[in-house]
Amino acid sequence: MKKTAIIAGSGAEHLSPFRDWESILVPTRFGTAEIRQGEISGKPVLFVARHGKEHSTAPHLINYRAIISALSELEAVRVIGTAAVGSLSNSIPPGTAAVLTDIIDFTRRGPITFFDDPAAGVVHTDFSEPYCSEISAVLLAAAEASGLEVTTPCTYICTDGPRYETPAEISMFRSWGADVVGMTNAPEVILSREAGLCYGSIAIITNFAAGISPKPLSHSEVVECMKSIEEKLAAALIGAVQALPTSWPCNCGRSTIG
Ligand code: HPA
Repeated sequence: MKKTAIIAGSGAEHLSPFRDWESILVPTRFGTAEIRQGEISGKPVLFVARHGKEHSTAPHLINYRAIISALSELEAVRVIGTAAVGSLSNSIPPGTAAVLTDIIDFTRRGPITFFDDPAAGVVHTDFSEPYCSEISAVLLAAAEASGLEVTTPCTYICTDGPRYETPAEISMFRSWGADVVGMTNAPEVILSREAGLCYGSIAIITNFAAGISPKPLSHSEVVECMKSIEEKLAAALIGAVQALPTSWPCNCGRSTIG
């Protein structure tokens, strides 16, 4: 049966509804991914901790292709990602959620794609609407219902990490139209689209970005902020999975569940 997958980012690895789900190792041609399997209101759901259960894999070392391939293999057709992000605007403070609607890929790791086999020909994927509009609408309603403050539309800029940005980089990103910054949505949203999976993302603003924040950035600030909203985030994810329809008329996956 076709499934919804949740890819949990920093600080969302241990959300209680998914914590005790049984995990399996799924071998793919890109490597092995650890995927948890469970059910929400009778619907089969897959759950992946993007950085590993104990947050041990840095953003630039994540095997994104193995994760997305494994989810496809297990019949996922849509993905809800969570992401901890820095805010580029004083009007989007830490603790706010953002339903992402666009992305700037500022990574320089080299393109990570499923389409790099010369024998398979050249494939250029449409990215006019990077995030699935249907999932985004459901995520917005579920996040608001869970009591989170939510902002959308929201443009995410992805850096390589694992270091945080400089104030000059943040100032440039802001002038480009980015609202939040993180280290993982590219290539995740790209690979999902290439694999035919609809992808929507709920980001949690955990800090003001470099040069806006009055203090140095730290991972503990990110973890503390995520802890403060974790119950609402879990409720939003559950509400979204419950509300997602079995078929949806979007322009990305053109998918049906069931
Ligand atoms: N920059 C990049 N990634 C992040 C940040 C940030 O400020 N906060 C959480 N993830």
